Amino acid sequence: MHVKIIGSAAGGGFPQWNCNYRLSRAARAGMSGVHSRTQSCIAASADGTGWVLFNASPDIRQQIAQTPDLRPAAEAPLRSTPIRAVVLTNADIDHIAGLLSLRERQPFAVYATAQVLATLEANSIFSVLDAAIVPRRLLAPMGELAICDAGGRETGVVVDVFPVPGKIALYLEQSGDPSADFSSETGDTIGVRITGAGSRGAAFYIPGCARIDAALRTRLADAACLLFDGTLYTDDEMIAAQVGQKTGARMGHIAMSGEAGSIAGLADVKIGRRIFVHINNTNPVLDENSAEHAAVKAAGWEVASDGMELEF
Ligand code: MLT
Ligand code: MN
Repeated sequence: MHVKIIGSAAGGGFPQWNCNYRLSRAARAGMSGVHSRTQSCIAASADGTGWVLFNASPDIRQQIAQTPDLRPAAEAPLRSTPIRAVVLTNADIDHIAGLLSLRERQPFAVYATAQVLATLEANSIFSVLDAAIVPRRLLAPMGELAICDAGGRETGVVVDVFPVPGKIALYLEQSGDPSADFSSETGDTIGVRITGAGSRGAAFYIPGCARIDAALRTRLADAACLLFDGTLYTDDEMIAAQVGQKTGARMGHIAMSGEAGSIAGLADVKIGRRIFVHINNTNPVLDENSAEHAAVKAAGWEVASDGMELEF
């Protein structure tokens, strides 16, 4: 299996268009050790020819341009793509808006949970992807599922999805409901185990997760690779940076640090490679020269950057 992290930033990307926080400024200035990143998306392939996207970020056009394997092959028909399917892990804008850039009557399949399919259905702009050309298929936590292209041919990529603690997309929240549970396990956010037919290893892709519980720790034991929610380093980071009012807990994102954080929560789980993805533009680990970046590395984690590749 080949996996490419084609977008390693959280919603907004890095730098974010309207952000003047020190990290976005450093990225714009080209400061050494601070690299720009596009929004959350990975691509997987069993044969190196056909690719399955996991999430479709608003930066998908740029991501395809930056990734030769995702462009039409030179000898391919006048309209073609090596992208066979898109698997969605939630309905967040940074994970679904890229579908709109994949219009042009090009066949591929979309896989999503019932909730995410309902959101696509309820927003008529997504009907630009004609269901007769771009079939929408249900992803349910029912064991391994072979991901197929629009015509039903297996891509060689196999997934096993499971709900993780999280919340519905920001734009779907009921305004001002203080009792809302922002770490429910109702399947609004899922994690995916990605493997290949006949492949020994598996990678777990969990770009959004509110909490690490016993079920998740058990599931991740012995994973070859984990790509995990790296939105924030500290829970109140956006407040401290004076760019927002929300904690990570309120946004459905566990922080990296602290007793309740992901580094501590997974410290004793046996995982081959652990890599943070979906990194917010306030997260100090984006600066490779920071103490926080050093702390994450010392704890055995990697910080994803765009273009990072994994094989297993
Ligand atoms: C998230 O990961 O919490 C969302 O992408 C936030 C957003 O919609 O901007
Ligand atoms: Mn997001």
